[in-house]
Amino acid sequence: MKLTFRLIFSLFIGITLVVTVFSYIQIKDEENRLKADIERRSIILAESLKESIIAMVETSQTDRLNRLVEKFGNRERLKGVAVFDASGTVISSNSFIKSYISKTPVEVANVLAEKFPKSKFIKIDKEKFYIYVIPIFSDTLEEEHLIGALALFQDASYIDVRMKELWKQNIMSLLVLTISIVAISLIVIKWNITVTVARMSEWIKELRTGKIKSSLNEVAIKGDVLAPLVNEVTTLVKSLSMAKARTDEESPVVTDSLWTAKRLREFIKEELGDKKLFLISNREPYMHIKEGENIKCVVPAGGLVTALDPVMKACDGVWIAYGAGDADKIVVDEEDKIRVPPEKPSYTLKRIWLTKDEEKKYYYGFSNEGLWPLCHITYVRPIFRKDDWIEYQRVNNRFADALIDEIKYEESPLILVQDYHLAIVPLLAKQKRPDAKIALFWHIPWPNPEVFGICPWAREILIGMLGADLIGFHIQFYCNNFLDTVDRFLESKIDWEHFSIERRGHVTNVKSFPISVSVEDFSINLNNREEIKKKLLGELGIKVEYIGVGVDRIDYTKGILEKFLGIERFLEKYPQFIGKFSFIQFGSPSRTRIKQYREIMDAIEEAADRINWTFQTSNYKPIIFLKGHHSHSKIIPFYNIADLCMVTSLHDGMNLVAKEFIASSNDNAVLILSQFTGASRELKDAILVNPYDIESLADAIYEALTMDRQEKEERMRKMRNLIRERNIYLWTRDLITSLSRI
Ligand code: F6P
Repeated sequence: MKLTFRLIFSLFIGITLVVTVFSYIQIKDEENRLKADIERRSIILAESLKESIIAMVETSQTDRLNRLVEKFGNRERLKGVAVFDASGTVISSNSFIKSYISKTPVEVANVLAEKFPKSKFIKIDKEKFYIYVIPIFSDTLEEEHLIGALALFQDASYIDVRMKELWKQNIMSLLVLTISIVAISLIVIKWNITVTVARMSEWIKELRTGKIKSSLNEVAIKGDVLAPLVNEVTTLVKSLSMAKARTDEESPVVTDSLWTAKRLREFIKEELGDKKLFLISNREPYMHIKEGENIKCVVPAGGLVTALDPVMKACDGVWIAYGAGDADKIVVDEEDKIRVPPEKPSYTLKRIWLTKDEEKKYYYGFSNEGLWPLCHITYVRPIFRKDDWIEYQRVNNRFADALIDEIKYEESPLILVQDYHLAIVPLLAKQKRPDAKIALFWHIPWPNPEVFGICPWAREILIGMLGADLIGFHIQFYCNNFLDTVDRFLESKIDWEHFSIERRGHVTNVKSFPISVSVEDFSINLNNREEIKKKLLGELGIKVEYIGVGVDRIDYTKGILEKFLGIERFLEKYPQFIGKFSFIQFGSPSRTRIKQYREIMDAIEEAADRINWTFQTSNYKPIIFLKGHHSHSKIIPFYNIADLCMVTSLHDGMNLVAKEFIASSNDNAVLILSQFTGASRELKDAILVNPYDIESLADAIYEALTMDRQEKEERMRKMRNLIRERNIYLWTRDLITSLSRI
């Protein structure tokens, strides 16, 4: 039975039952009322006739009695009047009733026997009558003496007629009521349930088949009835969307052909025409520092610069950043600009100057003592100072002003804002230039709402970020966390299928763009690798069979201490490698004005000293810690001669060292990679480790050094193909396409 039919049938039965019961009660009431009425009228009439009749019977005035009986016997509903003597014989009756009372009616006999009035409904010629009989007494004697009975016959057929009418009326009402209720119910069901369920199922189907056309908000879901279902389905959709996005992220990309600097340049020309690209970040790509009498240009350490410099080289444009080098001011023109890189100028670097106080509060304070530990969750407590926050906003305003000035002649410029230092620049820029297309790329992790919520200015930061048209994170997981955070703290409309947020009419798309490197910039092919290895190790004063390499900014999030403890445990556990395996750690000092950075530096140095002291011999040292700034050209040969590279971050947005190593290494090498890096989502052929688990780090080193050559080559081949395809040029193409087509 179909649902609609079942519903109509049940409604019909239900309504019929209810209406029948109520009709029955109502009709019974009416019947009782009519009966009571006829009885009352009969009593009154009998009582009024009684006296005259008694007198006439006692005085045997039969003629008068007959006239009286005839006169009253045909009034309205009173159809018959009959007078009986005490033996039940008719003394007088009107003509209408005569034939019926030829025999003493039972009712009369009963009244004469019991001397008490009686009434009854009877049938005369199939018609309904009400007979009311009273005994009549002579009151001339001292004692009451029964002299006969008076019977009144009232026509009661109208009661049945009335009852029939009532039943008819009620059946009609029942029909009208049933049809109306069924119709209303069907309309209500259609509007509120059928249409909604149909839309919902269509929408779930779209979702299941991956052809999402509409969003949940467009699926009009009315009424509270479906609210629990809607909530459940919304959660389900959210999980499905997240899972799907995650699967998409992890599935290998198959691009038509490789993205190169040249191809990106052509693409940008086609996509943007003559428009320039504007990039804005705290860290500058080239820093000029004094070295004695000379000025040296260095490339600061960090993934941001490594990734974006090739992009700007390919596209030209303006990169606005803080001029942190002590010789930066000397080399810029009157607009604080300089073309970079010095050896082959390809784009413009515009420097912004910060005072010591601004740097202290905006960069060291709010950015790196507040937001950095907040987003990384490596158990370093974030510090939030009001002064730092005020300065952070002021400096963000300064960056935004510089940007606005730079784009003053550009129509709908494309702006790429970088990282957590400039979280509120998107809003500041958007307010002044609504036509600008702004992307904000967040290079570090995004925590869950509970964690982010401890920041006293969480809402302000989110609002600032939502000035962007596009917000990019390295991995889908951070996008999900971000949407959850906005959902928790701001009044906004979140579309979980398309991962977008609408707030006050402005839409921000949130998408993952796993950043990468330019593989060519790191590729190296050493024909005489063994010789070079000997030379490089010789320069470091060691001679070993196996080499491990690590490259990190000295930061507590990088897990350098854990890495050293893993190496120590490896040598304890697998002593056959003492004297045969050395680890070269490049570490560039970073943010040293912050206490935790100085402490981690001391801890790392201490650990390296202790481990070396334990295992070193005259020509053997297990850890070579090269503290200082090292250029890529210096590091790349080490990547290439290494047997393994260890990236042991406790938490890392992406970690480009992992990708640099794959681009530069030889085929017979292994990457040991922390599972807490964004890179681990893509580089599944690395040995994935939990850096908090020292024992597993030791085992991972052993596994890497004893791995079958074929397996190593196979793993490396897969990872290299992946980063060759998913290179920084593809990343830029994706980011720019998403932004320019908004
Ligand atoms: O990758 C995250 C990041 O904070 C970048 O924004 C930055 O350039 C890099 O690390 C290095 O940090 P810093 O600029 O503080 O030296």
